[in-house]
Amino acid sequence: MTADAGLPDTLRDLPAWTPDAVELADLELILAGVYRPLTGFLGSYDTAMVIAGGRLADGTPWPVPVTLSVPEELTGHERIVLQDPEGVPLAVLRVTEAWQDPTTKERRLAGPLEALRAPAHGPFHSLRRRPDELAPHEGNVLAVATGEPLHRKQLGQLRQVAERLAAEVLVLPMLGGEHDDSLVRALLGVRRELPDGTRIIPVPLPERGELKDREILLHAHIAAAYGATHLLADREVEGTEVPVVVPEPWAYDADVEVWRPLARIEPDHVKAELTPERLGELLDAGEPVPDWFTPPAVAAELALARPPKPSRGITVFFTGLSGSGKSTVARGLADALIERGGRTVTLLDGDVVRRMLSAGLTFSRADRDLNIRRIGFVAAEITRHGGTAICAPIAPYAATRAEVRRMVSAAGDFILVHVATPLEECERRDRKGLYAKARAGLIPEFTGISDPYEEPDDADLTLDTSRMTPDEAVGKVVDLLVEGGWVRPA
Ligand code: ADX
Repeated sequence: MTADAGLPDTLRDLPAWTPDAVELADLELILAGVYRPLTGFLGSYDTAMVIAGGRLADGTPWPVPVTLSVPEELTGHERIVLQDPEGVPLAVLRVTEAWQDPTTKERRLAGPLEALRAPAHGPFHSLRRRPDELAPHEGNVLAVATGEPLHRKQLGQLRQVAERLAAEVLVLPMLGGEHDDSLVRALLGVRRELPDGTRIIPVPLPERGELKDREILLHAHIAAAYGATHLLADREVEGTEVPVVVPEPWAYDADVEVWRPLARIEPDHVKAELTPERLGELLDAGEPVPDWFTPPAVAAELALARPPKPSRGITVFFTGLSGSGKSTVARGLADALIERGGRTVTLLDGDVVRRMLSAGLTFSRADRDLNIRRIGFVAAEITRHGGTAICAPIAPYAATRAEVRRMVSAAGDFILVHVATPLEECERRDRKGLYAKARAGLIPEFTGISDPYEEPDDADLTLDTSRMTPDEAVGKVVDLLVEGGWVRPA
């Protein structure tokens, strides 16, 4: 774990660590001066004070804990190198405190950061700016920090507030999700609808699960760092660094076909709405998003980020004991989908994966987890590219299955099928003679005999192959895929 590439000799022997996405975003914002007065990751006292009262130990208002977790073996060093996911060193952390989070028990390091080079990971890097790279601006600047595209309503509200404040507009797309590129393109695509001189500066800011108020406080801080005098947000919060402006409610006046403030719409006019649920349904069905709701450039990005169900990537993940019939049903499903056409299919069968992708792994818990994570990684990539991944490992551990669900769901859709054939039936079949060997103690850690199988409580479908034929089992999975819209009815 030693960093090398391009490091000065004096740093070459320091241990290196790759922080997670939120920590890397924090690191970038600290180094860019956006998080001033912070110069590094917080220690235990500052963190406790921030969580309890939104202030650092010295009384400076600060909304969110900015901390760094590391494995225990990295806690005994004076300095460590922090690197990006590709291993490029970004900064040196001079450790002033190694502490343990009282709730999560995670090991944390605190201390100031010294920049080695500007982070260069992530799309649209050329649009990013440090606050000190911006020319100072006289007069008002209205910032909007958003993880969502701006539709016609928000564009109208933004123009209205900017005009009222005679402000220049600063759009801060918050990067950190699966569809960062879509978000930025959707915002660049509505430039013409924004006031002249509007600047768009992406800021790495993944969802960190903070309370909404703390989030608005953080956005106001970031906006202020970039020279904003006001922040547009959906509610006011006490103590923001720049005042929050809440736009008045707008609606679409369907009679005259314009968006305008609700107060200016004749009471007898029809007000059109498109709820997020309805928008999702339109996208799922591949139907056009109406032009009155959002400009075409945004609609195109929405459809890219959430493709119609029949062309959206999906992983069908079978789990169950050895001999439960997973492979047979998975193979049958792959054949059925290939016969119907319209979808590319990759079958990742347990035994086949173990001969290729996971060759050499044992059946220890750690190796099983690694095996399932590898399958999940491949399935997520297939799903991201609009394919169908069918996986059929035992996958005995609920936590690891949940991890795969998370990985895949970020890229597309995920369905868990529990092949719940009872152990007695699997053992009675014993096609590979493995249960007999396991009972005789010849195979240690055998699932169901001498190793656990955690029954899923989150299965989308449960099949018991002792009560149905393989064709019936395949039929049930196909039905589910047709009902869900992923596969067209035959
Ligand atoms: S998993 O636990 O990592 O998901 P996986 O599906 O890849 O297991 O492999 C299971 C297959 O390996 C079984 O179908 C069986 O043929 C074989 N096998 C060999 N040893 C074991 C064992 N100790 N436990 C379970 N399956 C085993």
